[in-house]
Amino acid sequence: MTAAADMTHNVLIRDVRPEDVETLVAIAIAAWEPVNACRRQTMGEELFAAAKPDWQGRKAREIRSACDPQSRASVCVAEHGGQVVGFVAFYANEVSCIGEIGNNAVHPDFQGMGIGSSMYRYAFDRLRERGMRFVRVVTGGDAPYAAARRAYEKAGFCIRVPLVSYYRKL
Ligand SMILES: CC(C)(COP(=O)(O)OP(=O)(O)OC[C@H]1O[C@@H](n2cnc3c(N)ncnc32)[C@H](O)[C@@H]1OP(=O)(O)O)[C@@H](O)C(=O)NCCC(=O)NCCS
Repeated sequence: MTAAADMTHNVLIRDVRPEDVETLVAIAIAAWEPVNACRRQTMGEELFAAAKPDWQGRKAREIRSACDPQSRASVCVAEHGGQVVGFVAFYANEVSCIGEIGNNAVHPDFQGMGIGSSMYRYAFDRLRERGMRFVRVVTGGDAPYAAARRAYEKAGFCIRVPLVSYYRKL
């Protein structure tokens, strides 16, 4: 098993274990709650309900599926003082050699402490070991994703290809 310790912050980054999975689901739901509250305001109740029905259930399924040993995802977690407080799912693509960062979150009580940044470094190291030459991540361009954008830019993501989602009422 690979692990990386950042003793300055009492943080250990390691591969996920089966007993971590439901903690990761709870972290994800706590971390995306404010993001989705903001999205609900932007989209309005009717569109939000149509576009993101049961977002908690969907997020939980995505995370359980990424943690499944049969999945092509790899997942690392951050332990702070022995408690799992964050995770990053990441994917290698042996054809393009462009890896991808997928679902990732730090529990709101532990955000802004450098934990996300430590996990991205760990994921980059694992992707490099698997021959990846680039890594991609996709996130929202709106206010609730400002923290994610800042964290990604700090982690060195500097080639930006923006996309915009539009909706209109019919
Ligand atoms: C994205 C996320 C995982 C980052 O984790 P984190 O542990 O807080 O990140 P770090 O502490 O390493 O911070 C990285 C940078 O982001 C900044 N940052 C953290 N929270 C911020 C916020 N709310 N607004 C603006 N910048 C913020 C930090 O200050 C730091 O930059 P700095 O060193 O210049 O100050 C976390 O914010 C999160 O879980 N967000 C909700 C879920 C989410 O959006 N996931 C990504 C989906 S694409």
